[in-house]
This record gives sequence, structure tokens and C-alpha cells, in this order.
Amino acid sequence: MRLTYTSDVWWKNAVVYCLDVETFKDGNDDGVGDFRGLTQQIDYLAGLGVTCLWLMPFFPTPNKDDGYDITDFYSVDPRLGTLGDFVEFMRTAHDRGLRVIADLVVNHTSDKHPWFKEARSSKDSPLRDWYVWSDTPEPDNPDQVVFPDKEDSIWEYDEGSGQYYLHSFYRHQPDLNVANPAVRDEIARVLGFWMELGLSGFRVDAVPFLIENVDPKLAEPHEFLADLRAFMTRRMGGSILLGEVNVAYKDLVAYFGDGLGDQITMCFDFIGMQKAWLSLARCDAGALSEALRERPKPPKDSQWAVFLRNHDELTLDKLTEDERQEIFQAFGPSEDMQIFGRGLRRRLPTMLGGDLRRIKMAYSLLFSLPGTPVIFYGEEIGLGENLKAEGRMAVRVPMQWSRDGGFSRVKPARAVPEGAFGPERVNVADQKRDTGSLLRWFQLLIERYRECPELAWGESTVLDTGEPAVFAHRCDADGATVVVAHNLSDTAREAELRLDGLGGYRLTDLLVDGTTEVPDGGVVRITMEPHGCRWLRASHPGVAPEDASVKSR
Ligand code: GLC
Repeated sequence: MRLTYTSDVWWKNAVVYCLDVETFKDGNDDGVGDFRGLTQQIDYLAGLGVTCLWLMPFFPTPNKDDGYDITDFYSVDPRLGTLGDFVEFMRTAHDRGLRVIADLVVNHTSDKHPWFKEARSSKDSPLRDWYVWSDTPEPDNPDQVVFPDKEDSIWEYDEGSGQYYLHSFYRHQPDLNVANPAVRDEIARVLGFWMELGLSGFRVDAVPFLIENVDPKLAEPHEFLADLRAFMTRRMGGSILLGEVNVAYKDLVAYFGDGLGDQITMCFDFIGMQKAWLSLARCDAGALSEALRERPKPPKDSQWAVFLRNHDELTLDKLTEDERQEIFQAFGPSEDMQIFGRGLRRRLPTMLGGDLRRIKMAYSLLFSLPGTPVIFYGEEIGLGENLKAEGRMAVRVPMQWSRDGGFSRVKPARAVPEGAFGPERVNVADQKRDTGSLLRWFQLLIERYRECPELAWGESTVLDTGEPAVFAHRCDADGATVVVAHNLSDTAREAELRLDGLGGYRLTDLLVDGTTEVPDGGVVRITMEPHGCRWLRASHPGVAPEDASVKSR
């Protein structure tokens, strides 16, 4: 592969950083984050090494679902700034080489959106068909209810107009009807608007709901995604869709589309994520190895987006009840840590008991997994949660910049983590001065990840290690190889790797100082410290390891 591919197909080894403008940095002293505050922190983000920011919804909203309930797709929530502030932010981000994508939440609107107000005003409203109505909805199936703590149906009766409307999520989020061509046109207009203002793409919320829950059912639901993709390519080649598609692997491949990938550019690997947690809980590589072996290969220009935590609950919905309970026991035993009967409302460092070695290993694993890593703001410093906040809001705490918080000069509007995870103990400023900090570890991981395009671009193979606690894989691209091993347990282990074709090669550690020779037979034993991480660059004797990367070809 040529290195120049990584600029054309930039998303394939991007480092995506998700943040909420509201919780990142307050620039106008009202306790709420905003675009001016975020703009001040651009150099921090560029210095961390991330290449693409994903902004959670920043549009006008009654805020009953933290901004995922939108009343105007063409504007900025006044609490967060103005369109002018947005453009200044975009310009600064681009100057620092950062791309920006944003949440596209068009499965539904807020019930306060003018479109819905108009649509519900009467059965004859010209916008009636922009939403999904029924006189006699199908009986409720509890499996369809996404938020069982608040809802017991996906239909809500509208007194005024005498019909039920569909809401896949909360009742205040009526589903838009993309079976209606006018709705599809409007969605394209929204994409076009923000791309014109500089966005490189969108994280598409709730994709399966968007194309399936419509009336009448679309004969070819995926055609709509392909149409959107084509529209984006016409307007801006190299723009992407990053899809929230939490379905089984066998159903998921269709979302990437055909050919080189003509629908959703990157899909989150929800299955791999859940299996990774199972492996972490068991200190056993089995579940993750199995998932990666089963994971379908995306089309050539598409990619998996890998993650361990996001802004929602840590959903464990694709595991069996027993597996879920194992993870609950290991990482969230008390009831107030659990949510919806399927997930945990905690961040990673608290789940791993604040054990820095283990936390570092988990993120090393994340960055080495084949795909594009997506991190949630604050993961780089080990930000915790505050369980006093309601539901999923527990993990959406203010970013911690310094010992006194540094998020705002006034009291933050949101609850801040406390105790061992309070700002005095966990903050950017301290970790910048500490070479052993998690923040410095992230910088190293990101640097190495970017230097090893084989990880994201190569052919990846899960390796047998002869040691259940060690997860290992290799990534090969055009004759260049990186071998990676992680010890999921807290005791030292030895692993035996059969590295076909690498007999006589040298393996150079990229994270710590170490070199191992692969015997001629190609079977090498490597030692692994407790929660040890090894990223090993293979080089032929006589070739400097630095020159052995596919990058140097
Ligand atoms: C997605 C979002 C979640 C939101 C829901 C409804 O799942 O990630 O935060 O509540 O969609 O928009």
C-alpha cells in the first residue's frame, strides 16, 4: 500500500475523539461548555494526536435526551454559541489538521420541532406524512422498547389529531418517515448544509431504526443510505458516514453496502466491543478472539470503528444473560451501576477499579485492534463518572482540566466525579507533567497506531498463543507485519506464537524497549508482564525496524 492512501481514505486509520461541546470547556462563565471554550482547547486535541472530532448533537433542543431531541437541524443551540462561533471553531480545527464530524440524528425529531407541531395539528396537515401514524398500532413487543425505564410502548396516542405516532425511542422523539421523499430531500439538505460549513461527515444515530421504522415499509431500505452516500460524494468526496448499527454481524454487512462500500463508511463494532468486555472480565482471550475471527470483512474502502466506551450505557445486549451477569459482577455489581437491564452506566477506569496497569492495557488493546479507534472525551485521562446523575448522564460529566476542575470559572451545571476520580486527582494538567500518566500513554499509543498503518489497513489474523490469558494477533500489509500481544491477567505469562513466514525475523517492541528474535521455525515464545502490552514490528535482519513498515515502501 502507498502511504498516500491514508490521506485519501483517511478514515481507515483515523483516531476519532467524541465530545459534547456542553461538557468540554466553558468559554463564557455560565457553567455550560460552548464552542468558544472548545476552540480554546483545540491545541490540546491536536497535541493528543487525534485526527477527527465527533461532536455530539449541538443543535437547538429542549434537551430531554441530552440534545438527541432536535428542534432545528440548521442551527446551534444558543447555550453553546452561535453559527459564527461554530465557523470560527471549524476554521481553527482545520488549521490544526483536525477533521470534524457531527451527530446526524434524523431517525426522529423533538416533539417540539416545528415540523412535528405542524404535522400533529391535523390529519390533513401537509407535513402529516413526515412522521409515522397509525389508527391501530401493532400490539407492543417489549423487545422493541429501547428505554424500558421510561417507556412501555413505541406508540403514543396524540389526543389532538386522534392517531398514534411512532417513537422508537422516547415518546418526545417522534420518528421521521423516510418513506416520504420530501423527508429524504430534507435530510440531504441538512447534510449539505453542514458539509458546506466544513464537516467531513456524520455519525449517524440509530441507523436501522431510521430505515426500517417507516410507513409504508421501503422495498429497498438500503437504497436510501446509498442515495445519501452518493449525494455526499458528489458534494464532498472523502466525506464519511459513521453508523450506529448495533445488529448481529450477519445483518450488519448490508449496511456497508456494495462494491468498495457505498453506504455507511464505518460501522461501530458493537459485537467486538461486548466480547472484549467479556474477555476483560474473564481475563481470557477466548471471547474476543472468537468475535474477531467471525467478524466479516468490510468492503475495501470501509472500516470497522472500534471502541470500549461511548456516551451511552455500556450495552451488553448481544451477550447471553449469563455472560451479561459475569460482566455485571466484575465491573458493575451494584444495582445503581446498571441500567435498562442490559448495560452499565460507568466509565472504563472505575470499572477496572482504577488499576492503571490494567487500564493502560485495555486501551493498548483498543488501539491495536483492527479498525479505527473511537474514544470518548476524558478516556485519555481516566475520567470517572458520577452515579448521582440520572441514567446515562452519569458518564457525561465535565472534562477535568486542572485540580480545581478547570471546566468553568463558575460551578459546572453538571455533576462532577468525586473522591478518587475528582478533579484534584484526575486532570489534564497533572498528567501532562507525568511521563507515566495515562494521558502520556494515550499519546504514545496514538503515535504508534499512526506509524503502523498495517494495524488498520492490513490483513489481520488472530493467533493461537497457548496461553488463555494472552490475546494476540498479527496485521500484514504488503509484506510488512506488526504482531501484537496483550496479557489480560494480572500475573506474568508466556505465550507461544507461530508466526508463519517470519522465521529468522527480528521483533522490535514499539511500546517498551525490547527485541526478540524469531527462530527459523517461526515459533517464538514471548514473555508478558502482568497486564503487559507488546506491539512488535517484524523486520528482516539487515533492515532497520524503522524501515520495515509498509509506510516506508
Ligand atoms: C442513540 C444515541 C443515544 C440517544 C438515542 C436516541 O442511541 O446514542 O444517546 O438517546 O440514539 O436518539
